[in-house]
Amino acid sequence: MSVAIIVASRHGSTREIAEEMARCLRHHGIGSTLYEAGEPVNLRGRTGVIIGSAVYMGRWLKEARTFVDEHQEELRQRPVWLFSSGPVGVNATNQTIDEVMLTELVTHSGALGHQTFLGKLDPSQLSRSERLLTRIVHAPEGDFRDFDAIDAWTEEIARTLLSDRITE
Ligand SMILES: Cc1cc2nc3c(=O)[nH]c(=O)nc-3n(C[C@H](O)[C@H](O)[C@H](O)COP(=O)(O)O)c2cc1C
Repeated sequence: MSVAIIVASRHGSTREIAEEMARCLRHHGIGSTLYEAGEPVNLRGRTGVIIGSAVYMGRWLKEARTFVDEHQEELRQRPVWLFSSGPVGVNATNQTIDEVMLTELVTHSGALGHQTFLGKLDPSQLSRSERLLTRIVHAPEGDFRDFDAIDAWTEEIARTLLSDRITE
C-alpha cells in the first residue's frame, strides 16, 4: 500500500507537516512518497493521496491548485484528503481561507475531507514585502503547528486505508 503526498510550501513549514504525515503513515505500515507540487507525480498504483498547501492571502499556492486541477480524473479514482496550513496564533480559525476556493478543491479532487492546521511565521524567513504585510495585519509570530493534531488526522487516514472499505 502506498500513498502520494503532494505539498506546496513557500518557507518549509508545510513541507515539515507533510514529512510528519509520512512518518506517521510509516508507523502504521503504510509507505508514501512526498512530492513538491509542481514536480511530476505518478499516481498509478497509489492507494490514496494527501494534498496540502500553505495559505497565502487566503489561497492555496498556485502549484497545489494547478495539481488538483490537472489531475481531477485520477484523483477521483482513489481516496483523497486535503489539508491547509496557515492560520497563525492560538486563536486562529480557518476563516482566513477562501471558502469558494476550498469548495472547488474538494469538488475537483473528490476529497473525503479537508483539515486546516495552524502554521508557522518566522520573520527571519520572510521577504521584505511579506514582513511588511504581516506587520500591517499584526500577524502573530511563532510556530503554532500542533503535531499531535497532525498525527491524529493522519492516523484517521491510516485507519481508513487499512480498513476493509478501501481495497487496492
Ligand atoms: C505574506 C503572508 C500572507 C499570509 N496569508 C495568510 C492567509 O491569508 N491565511 C492564513 O491562514 N495564513 C496566512 N499566512 C500564514 C502562512 O500560511 C503560514 O505562515 C504558513 O505556515 C506558511 O507555510 P510555509 O512555511 O509552508 O510557506 C500568511 C503568511 C504570510 C507571510
